Amino acid sequence: MRIAVTGKSGQVAKSLQRLAATDPELEVVLVGRPELDLLDPDSIGDSLRKTKPDIIVSAAAYTAVDQAEDERDLAYAINAVGAEIVAREAERIGVPVIHLSTDYVFDGSKNGFYVEADATAPQSVYGSTKLEGEKLVASSHSSPVIIRTAWVYSPYGKNFVKTMLELARTRDELNVVCDQWGCPTSALEIARALYAVAIKIRDLGAERVTGTYHFAGAGEASWQSFAEHVFQCSGREGGPRAKVNAIDSSQFPTKAMRPQNSRLDCVKFTMTFQYEAPDWRQSVDDVVREIVV
Ligand SMILES: NC(=O)c1ccc[n+]([C@@H]2O[C@H](COP(=O)([O-])OP(=O)(O)OC[C@H]3O[C@@H](n4cnc5c(N)ncnc54)[C@H](OP(=O)(O)O)[C@@H]3O)[C@@H](O)[C@H]2O)c1
Repeated sequence: MRIAVTGKSGQVAKSLQRLAATDPELEVVLVGRPELDLLDPDSIGDSLRKTKPDIIVSAAAYTAVDQAEDERDLAYAINAVGAEIVAREAERIGVPVIHLSTDYVFDGSKNGFYVEADATAPQSVYGSTKLEGEKLVASSHSSPVIIRTAWVYSPYGKNFVKTMLELARTRDELNVVCDQWGCPTSALEIARALYAVAIKIRDLGAERVTGTYHFAGAGEASWQSFAEHVFQCSGREGGPRAKVNAIDSSQFPTKAMRPQNSRLDCVKFTMTFQYEAPDWRQSVDDVVREIVV
């Protein structure tokens, strides 16, 4: 099976490429800038067609959550219009599309885990452009699979785990927000989940599984407990560690508003694709070990 993935250096893209290196049945082709630029519609169709994929994973996105508050038009062009064109091209060449979205489509006011049918109400430009992307993908492809994930980290790119470890090299104590709750998710797990979806689509047809799903690391964490776990594991492996001081989000103002609760209920994904992420702590251990060793 050949999967074309948008974006070259992205966490999910790199993780899918790594998965393919372990499985002779899977070929992953990363299609990104300069050949495919989500801001250049012609480049999208041309580069995807050349790849002759069996399935397209639409993973590229404008992901700088705070910066997006100052770059609304650019974030919309990439996350909404760019995603729409990828889905439309997939439809045109007759292949299924799996599109990635985010927990930040929710406002965080629910007590409990969000299910797919819960009302969306993004609080940030990033969240609202990703939600627009979901809607445009749904109206541009006959049977898309849209997967919302959350708090993504990996050995690749920029992410919370790498930032914490980097900061702990020069600081003994760090202040980390304790009143926002979510599901830390390893991009390596997302890659396995996407492969499970691709196999199901191949076996049953995309029309049988089309829809929106949540996929994230099992369990729940605050940024504080996430950081503490990173340092526990790093300390065990001889890597950097720091004392974590809990602070409220009011003590750490950011440009973009983030949901206080964006925990995702992943039961629908598990039931449909027979794949479930392990407890988030286990996946953090694997990634931290790889980074610090
Ligand atoms: N990161 C998170 O915490 C998080 C949470 C929830 C959902 N998600 C969603 O999950 C998906 C994957 O996220 P990720 O963490 O793997 O992203 P990432 O590491 O931030 O990478 C973003 C990717 O998008 C590509 N990209 C950005 N602008 C582009 C453009 N104009 N044309 C073509 N490619 C462009 C980048 O390209 P280059 O390779 O050229 O730099 C990069 O490959 C995204 O849809 C994201 O919204 C992420």
